[in-house]
Amino acid sequence: MLNTFPYVPPQADALAVDDISFSYPNGHRVFSSFSLNARPGEFVAILGPSGCGKTTLLNLLSGFVQPQSGRITINQTAVRPERSELGYVFQAPQLFPWLSALENVRFGLRMSARTDASQQRAQALQYLRLVGLESAAHRLPHQLSGGMQQRVSLARTLALEPSVLLMDEPFAALDAISRNSMNEETLRIWAELGQTVLFITHDIDEAVFLADRVIVLSIAPGGIHSELEIQLPRPRSNLKTRRLPAFLDYRNELMTRIAQVMDAGDATVYPTPRLELTA
Ligand SMILES: Nc1ncnc2c1ncn2[C@@H]1O[C@H](COP(=O)(O)OP(=O)(O)OP(=O)(O)O)[C@@H](O)[C@H]1O
Ligand SMILES: [Mg+2]
Repeated sequence: MLNTFPYVPPQADALAVDDISFSYPNGHRVFSSFSLNARPGEFVAILGPSGCGKTTLLNLLSGFVQPQSGRITINQTAVRPERSELGYVFQAPQLFPWLSALENVRFGLRMSARTDASQQRAQALQYLRLVGLESAAHRLPHQLSGGMQQRVSLARTLALEPSVLLMDEPFAALDAISRNSMNEETLRIWAELGQTVLFITHDIDEAVFLADRVIVLSIAPGGIHSELEIQLPRPRSNLKTRRLPAFLDYRNELMTRIAQVMDAGDATVYPTPRLELTA
């Protein structure tokens, strides 16, 4: 007889894009019949060539723009721009130059007006500590390195305690060493806070290092070219993970797929080749 216990109910998606189509007002079509989902706590990386619609996708998820058809839900509810469970980390830090790191983090909390000033400062400090910047709390943005500024920006978003984090190439402007260290930091914070993350990147290594699953987009107007589950052990570290033979296999596989996307120049979907892993 089939053993039905213990019963584990299926988990609802934290984020679901269901069969959407979207064109800009000038008629430029970016998505048609596009679907995507993320499980609660999943780290999903979106990889795709320039112009394929990555930023458009995040704007749709944020509710800044609406699809012409289809449905987008965050935690089973339709998206609205003012939803507090969504956090958005942009490519550039976008800090107020006249406010200290602490006041920049506090700014978002002040807007949400849920607590008084001293509680807001304590919460801002807690998130600066999380990104390793407690000692720089009173410095102005121009007194911080590019990586530190991006940490402040991350702390500002995290302080609002979103359950879903949208990150649009947040470390693209950093040098390779700072980017690797921010990748490690991101995973440490994610392991601690457990949000669902949708991370947009052009960088194949970054996608493999961070994600549970990498989604490769086709060139617009398109959809998903393919997906790849990344089964590298966690916790991941720059020194260990990036040297694993399996890391290089995933990286090579994604390089092949991106080359296919670039060659096609359209929405062609290729069969996913079988991936042999050596570790
Ligand atoms: N406001 C707009 N009106 C018309 N077309 C637009 C508009 N914004 C973007 N596009 C076009 O839509 C497509 C997708 O743009 P999007 O910015 O989402 O690409 P992306 O994948 O984020 O690119 P990148 O990697 O360069 O940031 C591109 O072809 C772009 O030219
Ligand atoms: Mg973009």
